[in-house]
Amino acid sequence: MTVRIGQAGLGEWGKNLARNFADLADLAWLSDPAAGKAEEFSGRYPQARWADTFEEMLADESLNAVVVATPVPTHYELAKQALEAGKHVFVEKPPAMKGSEIDELVSIAEERDLVLMPGHLLLYHPGVLKLKELVDGGELGDVLMVYGNRQNLGVIRKHENALWSLGVHDLSVILYLLDEDPVEAVALGQSLLKTGVEDVVFCYLRFPSGKIAHMHLSWLDPHKMRKMTVVGTEKMAVFDDMELDRKVTVYEKSPWKPVDTYGEWQTRTGDIHIPKIPTDEPLKLECRAFLSLVDGEGDRRQVARDGARVVRALDMLTTSLDGG
Ligand SMILES: NC(=O)c1ccc[n+]([C@@H]2O[C@H](COP(=O)([O-])OP(=O)(O)OC[C@H]3O[C@@H](n4cnc5c(N)ncnc54)[C@H](O)[C@@H]3O)[C@@H](O)[C@H]2O)c1
Repeated sequence: MTVRIGQAGLGEWGKNLARNFADLADLAWLSDPAAGKAEEFSGRYPQARWADTFEEMLADESLNAVVVATPVPTHYELAKQALEAGKHVFVEKPPAMKGSEIDELVSIAEERDLVLMPGHLLLYHPGVLKLKELVDGGELGDVLMVYGNRQNLGVIRKHENALWSLGVHDLSVILYLLDEDPVEAVALGQSLLKTGVEDVVFCYLRFPSGKIAHMHLSWLDPHKMRKMTVVGTEKMAVFDDMELDRKVTVYEKSPWKPVDTYGEWQTRTGDIHIPKIPTDEPLKLECRAFLSLVDGEGDRRQVARDGARVVRALDMLTTSLDGG
């Protein structure tokens, strides 16, 4: 089936989504109130109709799905309106700013059997899928901890802090790899440039199994890092998105308790392995996954529940960051 899609929000990121959905589906409606967008995007996608309001787009009964790529504070309201109008929804990350809001969206989607897919791009990255395969296949042994580094100089945000702007990516990966909800979530951060917007945030998460996770999030850093490290009892693996041809590296490094040391821990090191990772564009894979779910393939409830888990953990971290 060719899915008819309407997209709200054609900013820096939204234009990438529109490019992919125009390739893979019938991009039937576009909408963005900012000056100049109608001229620019109607020229680029002449087959798509321009909606002056979101409601105008939703009123088209032949529209199957809506893509929401607007600023974060608008996500919950727009996604809710679209679901209530009976449309499948792809909503950029994070889909809502409160646990109670995402729970409401998930229950509307489930009641109506609609797809509600949050845009957790990294969950479609072949490097992250390889990490998941290593974790689930037991190659790393038991996972002890996972930590993410997402640092760079810029982009300095005015409204969202580093936790909401950067942390949402790493958090989605950590929860996907561990498949558990944290029992403890602590965040410490500092607003160094603009009051109320933390430029650097350090997070600590503890899970029921005893596994732990950490995230260093900052846009005031000399290093450009997009890295996730998984430490297991047998091996350790690193996903480094700044690398071109060694996105994932597996280290035969681990703690070790030889029988003749009477219970003392030692360490062992062995080979370093670099698995081949496909170079498919994660965004294209993500858009395809959404269209497949709309088309009735796979478990359409799971993506919404995974998204809800991320928002709930963000909510816990925000409470901690705010001193709660
Ligand atoms: N998955 C990723 O890797 C990734 C990367 C960057 C941004 N994002 C997400 O994408 C979203 C958009 O980010 P961006 O960088 O494109 O922001 P942006 O500010 O460049 O663009 C947002 C656009 O939405 C428009 N808009 C606002 N309200 C609207 C409404 N009611 N209807 C239609 N359009 C509306 C604005 O006019 C603007 O053009 C954010 O949620 C962000 O978190 C995701």
